[in-house]
Amino acid sequence: MKTIDVEKARKETRGVDKVTHLNNAGSSLMPIPVADALYGYLQTEEMQGGYETAASEAAALDNFYTASAKLLNCSSSEIAYIENATRAWDMAFYSFNFKPGDKILTSIAEYGSNLIAMIQQANRFGAEIIFVPDDEHGQLDVAALENLIDDRVKLIAISHIPTGGGLVNPAAAVGKLANAAGIPYLLDSCQGVGQLHLDVQEIGCDILSGTGRKFLRGPRGTGLLYVRQSLVEQLEPIMLDQHAAQLTSATSYTIRDDAKRFENWEQYFAGKAALGVAIDYALDWGLDAIQARIYELAADLRSKLSAIDGVTVTDEGTERCGLVTFYCQQVEATAIKSAMSAANINVSVSSGSGSFVSFEKRGLDSLVRASVHYYNTTAEIDQLIDVLKQQLK
Ligand SMILES: Cc1ncc(COP(=O)(O)O)c(C=O)c1O
Repeated sequence: MKTIDVEKARKETRGVDKVTHLNNAGSSLMPIPVADALYGYLQTEEMQGGYETAASEAAALDNFYTASAKLLNCSSSEIAYIENATRAWDMAFYSFNFKPGDKILTSIAEYGSNLIAMIQQANRFGAEIIFVPDDEHGQLDVAALENLIDDRVKLIAISHIPTGGGLVNPAAAVGKLANAAGIPYLLDSCQGVGQLHLDVQEIGCDILSGTGRKFLRGPRGTGLLYVRQSLVEQLEPIMLDQHAAQLTSATSYTIRDDAKRFENWEQYFAGKAALGVAIDYALDWGLDAIQARIYELAADLRSKLSAIDGVTVTDEGTERCGLVTFYCQQVEATAIKSAMSAANINVSVSSGSGSFVSFEKRGLDSLVRASVHYYNTTAEIDQLIDVLKQQLK
């Protein structure tokens, strides 16, 4: 396995000279090749016109599909470009025709927006949402999932990594069960793309949603959707336009037969070209190397946090990734974020809807979330620890 040349990674990231960025689960710092591709594309649009640029940059735009297919180990015709992970997930989810009595199995860690969509559709169609319990490690209990499977289950939809913690749910074990039972499997891997080695064949998911701006280090307003070809043909998107479908008469249309049926005609083209560059950039580092470096930094941060009196680290699961969450009895999470910000360190606060079910079950309110990427350093982690210790004095 390759290792990350951290010095090179930092040289290629202008933002590291300005800030200690530990909010990669919010949005990462773009590396120079990605930022320059974005600015360059926009400048060409400014000088040539948007449609003309789309024509002259056709190869860079098409590269988004080729790079995504390589990233996930699928065909480029199974990839759609969508403006964020939520909409990508929605475009697939809302295409399912639920009937009264149908069941949707989901995770306790489910992302709030996904759950809102599930509740909306369950209310509309009389379907039932069932939360698969967690095991003693706080991750989805695979044996419990197996026991819940019956012929009323129409969809298994889980979050791979929740927004509010370091947990990595056992996605591939879920895939084995879903595939054996012939149940469609929708994986929200918004926090997984760019952070983990992901292979949709190994995982066995039929649908996967991801975002551009987080661990892939792409621009904001970009995302992707993978849909297995056999399912593409069965899912009619809830909304269609003349990119997704074509009129065949005044009263009929045909839908295209690839995953682009889930896309809009009008898109953030500059973002698409730049996201393609970001994916290639991640592939060049190697996803195994990226994952290993992130896990190592996060483990270091967790152990240093745990050693501080009054700090509780809240990450769950047997496998823990680059999202590190904690709280302090004496100081509110928002006050910690402000102190970090004053010291030029970016972290975020996890609260509210994003992890609602999980936080409610665990009696959590709001947590500080520090999320590392491969370009972060041990010195930056120590900086965070020093500021926190100062604040808790
Ligand atoms: C687990 C998870 N799913 C989905 C999303 C939504 O992603 P986006 O903001 O790109 O729609 C997030 C964002 O934080 C997330 O953490």
